[in-house]
Amino acid sequence: MHDETNANDWWRHGVVYQVYVRSFADGNGDGTGDIAGLRSKLGYLNDLGVDALWINPWYSSPLKDGGYDVADYRSIDERFGTLEEVEQFIAEAHELGIKVIADLVPNHTSDQHRWFQEALAAAPGDPARERYIFRPGKGINGSEPPTNWTAVFGGSAWERVPDGEWYLHIFDPSQPDLNWEHEDVRAEFDSIFRFWLDRGIDGFRIDVAHGLVKDLSFPDVAEQAVILESERSADHPFWDRDGVHEINRRWRSVLDEYDNRMMVAEAWVAADRLPLYLRPDEYHQSFNFDLLDTDWDAGLFAAVIERSVTAANAVGAASTWVLSNHDVMRHATRYGLPAGTKWRSWPMVGPHEVLDQEAGTRRARAAALITLSLPGSTYVYQGEELGLPEVWDLPEDVLDDPTWERSGHTEKGRDGCRVPIPWEINGPSFGFGSGAPWMPQPASFAALSAAAQAEDPASTLSLYRRATALRREHLAHVEAFELVDLGAGVLAYERGANMLVVANMSTEAISLPEGTVLISSDPSQGQLIQPDSSVWIAR
Ligand code: NOJ
Repeated sequence: MHDETNANDWWRHGVVYQVYVRSFADGNGDGTGDIAGLRSKLGYLNDLGVDALWINPWYSSPLKDGGYDVADYRSIDERFGTLEEVEQFIAEAHELGIKVIADLVPNHTSDQHRWFQEALAAAPGDPARERYIFRPGKGINGSEPPTNWTAVFGGSAWERVPDGEWYLHIFDPSQPDLNWEHEDVRAEFDSIFRFWLDRGIDGFRIDVAHGLVKDLSFPDVAEQAVILESERSADHPFWDRDGVHEINRRWRSVLDEYDNRMMVAEAWVAADRLPLYLRPDEYHQSFNFDLLDTDWDAGLFAAVIERSVTAANAVGAASTWVLSNHDVMRHATRYGLPAGTKWRSWPMVGPHEVLDQEAGTRRARAAALITLSLPGSTYVYQGEELGLPEVWDLPEDVLDDPTWERSGHTEKGRDGCRVPIPWEINGPSFGFGSGAPWMPQPASFAALSAAAQAEDPASTLSLYRRATALRREHLAHVEAFELVDLGAGVLAYERGANMLVVANMSTEAISLPEGTVLISSDPSQGQLIQPDSSVWIAR
């Protein structure tokens, strides 16, 4: 039992483990991960010392975008299991003191959602279309899209239907955007929140929290280059518009009808806009992706960490730390690429020989001891505790991410971080399930499997287990944080009077400060801290 997770504000200092259910564990042998598999691994997750689980969408879905295309928000996809199994899972997690965060997708539905099917069956101008964003086109016979907006996965953000109207989808055409100006939409989501809250869900991760509100004057955008959302201008027609805050407040008031529940925003917005999402009547927390976008450099890390802690403190929130998730290249590989590599599109354009996987793995271990020792909550993406690398060489014919098709086969997409987890050293899917997995695993996964690492004190799995236990013992509820200058290339900070964290991100070994080493990312830790390693020192 992890008593501290029962305290109010459990989300402020927890370790949240992200489960991409499709690739976590397959309980029924059909090659796809499921709730039965997840339940069978609760003991593993408890031993790993996580406080909460965030489960990627488990709802009925055609899985065109890995489940972020929801056909029915109140039922579980049959490939994943049943609502009853989910209820059992929530109860079992709670027995272990582990909270459960569901993933809610309010920006768009699947094109298979009942509402969208009704909209398609209706004529232009029919009220059924108003729950989405349908518009006539421009040009001769309306054959041009209503605006020049581009979709995140590539191509136009508009799709034409047979009667000539166009509908908006800022992701895939199979993900039509809801019209959040419509009261039906708002009321429906209030009800969906309550549905899951009544089933014991402790929190929600809100997908595309910064995208719900559109500029309904439909201006063209000047900039068509593909750039990060966080770099887009404040007055973008669909990113980070001020109207989202009213919706945030409405949801918050629903959550506040229940005890001790939370919501975390996936909001890729500029650093100075993020605190707006964290006002006391809005989100409890927001993902902070800044560290994920930072090269392996002590000065850059220190600046991002200091800025994040200060910004969170200023609004009374706790920061979050994320190195990997199901949308980005795994950090064990990212850190093995030369500084400055444009890793989001790297696998298709860069020479693979530049990858130094050994350095990537060493740095990923050191990075874990950084994020697990910072104030706030730390998100761990499934498999990072095994040190899994990105599988960058998946053959083209197995690619599943819509990015691959929508980019005209120029961007491989996100499948390389979604490869099924290896649990055992042998077997048709390294213990993922009893048969072949939905996405092939590389042979290198055998040595990285949980079974191969479980008893090895030098393994990455052992490192994570020890770090979460030490975090509970020494850092639970400690919010104090102060950077310490130990020279160029070294990231160091105190966490209260008794703990010093040192990450040597330089190329030279440095001497070990006084105190007792609680944990080191370097299994052969001696009197020096080697390059690319981190230590926690008790004083
Ligand atoms: C963000 C999710 O993390 C990503 O996987 C998904 O493709 C988009 N939102 C669209 O829902």
